[in-house]
Amino acid sequence: MSGATDRQRGAGGGTPRATLITNIGELTTNDHRDGDPCGTLHDAAVLIEDARIAWVGSAADATRRLATRAATAADVELLDAGGRAVIPGFVDSHTHLVFGGDRADEFEARMTGTPYAAGGIRRTVAATRDASDAELRERLARLVTELHRQGTTTFEVKTGYGLTVHDEARLARLAAEVTPEVTYLGAHVVPAEFADRREDYVELVCGDMLQACAAHSRWIDVFCERGAFTGDEARRILAAGAAHGLMPRVHGNQLGPGDGVRLAVELGAASVDHCTFLEDADVAALSGSSTVATLLPGVEFSTRQPYPDARRLIDAGVVVALASDCNPGSSFTSSMPLMIALAVREMGMTPAEAVWAATAGGARALRRHDVGAIAPGARADLVMLDAPTRVHLAYRPGVPLVAGVFKDGAAVG
Ligand code: NIG
Ligand code: FE
Repeated sequence: MSGATDRQRGAGGGTPRATLITNIGELTTNDHRDGDPCGTLHDAAVLIEDARIAWVGSAADATRRLATRAATAADVELLDAGGRAVIPGFVDSHTHLVFGGDRADEFEARMTGTPYAAGGIRRTVAATRDASDAELRERLARLVTELHRQGTTTFEVKTGYGLTVHDEARLARLAAEVTPEVTYLGAHVVPAEFADRREDYVELVCGDMLQACAAHSRWIDVFCERGAFTGDEARRILAAGAAHGLMPRVHGNQLGPGDGVRLAVELGAASVDHCTFLEDADVAALSGSSTVATLLPGVEFSTRQPYPDARRLIDAGVVVALASDCNPGSSFTSSMPLMIALAVREMGMTPAEAVWAATAGGARALRRHDVGAIAPGARADLVMLDAPTRVHLAYRPGVPLVAGVFKDGAAVG
């Protein structure tokens, strides 16, 4: 944690086995209680032991709790939150962090009216193929530090800027160095050299490229969109991935209505991401399904598209997650606080819904039960805000409110 909080080492010195965070003004546990999905506690405390949450309760009870383990009290580091808010670490379930170059010129052109097009991906593919492993690894490490500093403690990373067997495999390998949540996205766009042979490219994605990436990946994704892959192609690619043990997720309905959402639901995908252009049938399909709708408002911010209608989805009973989609083309930001602010200001979400979606929602989108909540047994991933409540994440947009970040019980922010 940063120096913004008062820390006190137990009398024994040395490395503490446990940390007690006390005097938390507002604690978002996401441990659903009394109709509050955020499981909000006031004047709370959290005990971290061996990288996991050991206990959550009131600050008043914390002293008693410590007394029961008095024999080892010297090993406990005390951290006074000074009335600040604490929330679970953000779970960013959609990023494209391994790439070369940038596309600031495209962003600049968009701001004066040029529309976003999926084909821009090919520029990043060229720059990524040209980059060495060392260059890609260094860029990736810098982005991971950027994520941590802003409170993100779990994140997914996609391939998709290599689009050869060799390059997709190295992106998957590099991604696996920084996260267990690696997604094989050979079906990002048909690369230029296959422009007249798209059938052959789909074959490659389902065959040798998948073989080379499967060992490093947990997920498979397809950009199912006009200018990328059709619903039928996506169905075939996702089935090939499933045969290699990769679970499906889908990029769908980003640039216009399409098959992505219904395909994701049909296949039981963990998540369908973007969901910007939805028809009633898409919302009906999502509602009651196990597929999370992951909304990526950084894209609409950066492409000047209309924002997705989170309210419509939530009111229909759909589980919504928020993610950054950090990538050099459509959303070059890694800021989950910005996603929360946009979701509240532009998408009809309450601050509580947005914070839940950026933490527990992301965990649901990655089918993870060990992150996204501050509850006994969960990983000790949490964020202390330099603010009294989580509402400040939307109320004070653009202000760096993340005062400290714990991942697996250790300070990373
Ligand atoms: O999620 N939609 C497809 N892929 C990225 C865009 C990538 C790019 O433009 O480079 C996205 O928005
Ligand atoms: Fe994406």
